[in-house]
Amino acid sequence: MVQKTLITAPIEEELQSLRVYIKDSLNSDNPLLGEALAYIRQRSGKMMRPILTLLIAKCFNSVSEKTLHAGTSLELLHTASLVHDDVVDSSGERRGQPSVNAEFNNKVAVLVGDYLLSSSLYHGALTNDVRIIRMIARLGQRLVDGELLQLSNVSNTTISEEVYFSIIRKKTGVLFETCAQVGALSVGATEEQIEWARKIGEIIGYAFQIKDDIFDYFDNPIIGKPTGNDMREGKLTLPIIHVLLKTQDEAMNTLAQRVKKGEVTDEEIVALIDFAKREGGIDYARQVMAQQVERARTLLAQCADEAVRTALISYIEYVVEREK
Ligand code: IPE
Ligand code: IPE
Ligand code: MG
Ligand code: MG
Repeated sequence: MVQKTLITAPIEEELQSLRVYIKDSLNSDNPLLGEALAYIRQRSGKMMRPILTLLIAKCFNSVSEKTLHAGTSLELLHTASLVHDDVVDSSGERRGQPSVNAEFNNKVAVLVGDYLLSSSLYHGALTNDVRIIRMIARLGQRLVDGELLQLSNVSNTTISEEVYFSIIRKKTGVLFETCAQVGALSVGATEEQIEWARKIGEIIGYAFQIKDDIFDYFDNPIIGKPTGNDMREGKLTLPIIHVLLKTQDEAMNTLAQRVKKGEVTDEEIVALIDFAKREGGIDYARQVMAQQVERARTLLAQCADEAVRTALISYIEYVVEREK
């Protein structure tokens, strides 16, 4: 198992400053908003996105104030998207505690998500760099595009890996891509270096979401959010898509269409999950992740700073090995 300390070793101090910016953003004089923000503040996430921004910046130069504000903006945008995502997915748990919609209600969650998004843009503005602001604004648009594509795909009866990959790139990958690009941009990297960073982010994004989707096939309280929710929400993910296409099993295909119609029962979900496991769907998804790790390793060979290179390799290994 990868040690998380290896990942953050080269950026420990910078990450500490960034955490302070984030904590300071989660405050308000408004009693209800203040209460909801304090509730979010008590459980921080893994900070994978700003860690990527900081590490990529450090590949090229010392981390600047610009990098810190950009990383803060991206983590706040991510947090906003999770608060809204739990409303969209009717999900009751996040980061090991009841989700904002469950603890308060949907109305509060929508408004708190908006507040976090605005705080994200505020930190974006503090970079004083119009190229970074433009990237973050564009990112917000693209994430919504991905979420809506996923939503409309529920009623699409065709099951395909290609569509799956396109959805996860849009809903998750572009965030990692932007984190990496902005990290490079914030320390004056060249266009070529920014494109190199984008590719690393893209690879991480695929691996990250495939791993997240695998979680849904297993019951494990460590994850800190509900499992089995994807099919309940009409979503088929890589392990089941792969085995459905491979076996062309008629009974299971019928169940899969019931998922899409929102008619599937809990027992039928169990049957689909067992089928995916039995037919090697999880193993296949793990192979796809392993390919991404190899692609990342090849690209990362170009990172000259050894400690940062080791940290980034550990980062991608952690993405595929993590248990939450
Ligand atoms: C969850 O992201 C959303 C996905 C893209 C699957 P993380 O697992 O990074 O969430 P936190 O920030 O650590 O809670
Ligand atoms: C997370 O989507 C990515 C976002 C756009 C917020 P999911 O709905 O797949 O992630 P979890 O499992 O709820 O974290
Ligand atoms: Mg979702
Ligand atoms: Mg969700």
